[in-house]
Amino acid sequence: VFIPPPSLSAKFEGSFAYLTVRDRLPTILTKVIDTIHRTKNDFFQKHGEVGVDAEKRAISFLSKMRNELQTDKPVLPLTDSADDTEAWNRYLQRQQDLMENGQLVSWFKSPWLYVECYMYRKIQEALYFSPPICDFDVFKEGKTQSFFESQQAIISLCTFLRESLVSADNANRKWLFEHFLTFLQVSLWGNRCDLSISAGQENSQKTSPIHSLPDLRHFILVDDSDKVWSVLTSKQSPGGQEKTGVRLDIILDNAGFELVTDLVLADFMVSVGLAKEVHFHGKSIPWFVSDVTSRDFDWTTSQTAASNHKHMSSCGVQWKRHVKDGAWTYHEHPFWTLPHEFCDMPADAPDLYSTLQRSDLILFKGDLNYRRLTGDRAWEHTVPFGRALRGFLPAPLCSLRTLKANVQVGLEPGQAEKLAAQDTEWMTSGKYAVIQFCSPFEE
Ligand code: F6P
Ligand code: MG
Repeated sequence: VFIPPPSLSAKFEGSFAYLTVRDRLPTILTKVIDTIHRTKNDFFQKHGEVGVDAEKRAISFLSKMRNELQTDKPVLPLTDSADDTEAWNRYLQRQQDLMENGQLVSWFKSPWLYVECYMYRKIQEALYFSPPICDFDVFKEGKTQSFFESQQAIISLCTFLRESLVSADNANRKWLFEHFLTFLQVSLWGNRCDLSISAGQENSQKTSPIHSLPDLRHFILVDDSDKVWSVLTSKQSPGGQEKTGVRLDIILDNAGFELVTDLVLADFMVSVGLAKEVHFHGKSIPWFVSDVTSRDFDWTTSQTAASNHKHMSSCGVQWKRHVKDGAWTYHEHPFWTLPHEFCDMPADAPDLYSTLQRSDLILFKGDLNYRRLTGDRAWEHTVPFGRALRGFLPAPLCSLRTLKANVQVGLEPGQAEKLAAQDTEWMTSGKYAVIQFCSPFEE
């Protein structure tokens, strides 16, 4: 049997995983505690003394967890009774079974992907035990702020989209292809703006994203845009039948500027007929600081529609129309906020896997999705993307990711060495990106 390479983990001292668990995660927890504390008055206004008690309870729970993390205590089963609690506890058992020499699963000794996801789920547990503030989104403020700070870039992007659509020439393949590439790359680079890598420090888009694209081309290490285009424009479905219209699925990543770039891409695709329907997939709990929840999705379309800027507001209005018409649908599934590698999906979330099998193209946004696609393992850089997926291939899929963690597959021989010689942080700085495609129908 094939044994995959080991999971990235904080047990490798000095690794990016180690630095994240040692430095970045406690910083994020401290920010969460501060946010809850600063919201105390609002809790009081809304709920009276019980609101203040809840604030105290949540803070003491989170401080305890931060201490356990920093002193590498065992990871404990969840004790709330949410819908996903059992799945989490089964996964902990699975991790325990993988530990050697009777060691316990703990913050620094276990896979980074697992403990990092666990931290976000534990924040949810802290709130679960702190009614009535159970559905307080501790990251809302940061997400909102990053949207407002990206205002100018959003306006220029919306303007570019509206003007492009006015002059759209859907019969002109070259025009379509060039614009498709532009919007795909804007969505790709939108992934730079996540708040988790910066531990919640501001991270917004200040300049027009369109003008910088030519300069950024050079930083795209794998560019499979042509293959994505072929999937979209081939008349036949892989089964041989005539296509009735492309179904595109977007596994969303961050709110703020990145979400706007995804909505712009989806709007373009539907407006020019490259896709008939777009299915967005978001998170059901606040996740990795800036990931999109349904509230963020609705808030973003509403804010955009309410803008004073004519092109921005007409984008927002159009987006709401796509939702109303059913061309756009928004979906949630607990699997997106579980710690599993995606190759576990057929066994652990078969319903989601079969939903995705109905797609013509799945776009996976961002770094965390890439880590889950590849299992967050220490793969050789030249291993083909398809092999690192380990059987996860419900439909043709493409990762749009800026590199923020040390896993990267599918490179040419020598490419990684050359990059490492120029820039020791090439895998984690967010400066490089990939548009990486794989299809079950490729020979
Ligand atoms: O802890 C930081 C980090 O986990 C990255 O290394 C990572 O995967 C990222 O946050 C989230 O990035 P993205 O929003 O692109 O998934
Ligand atoms: Mg994210």
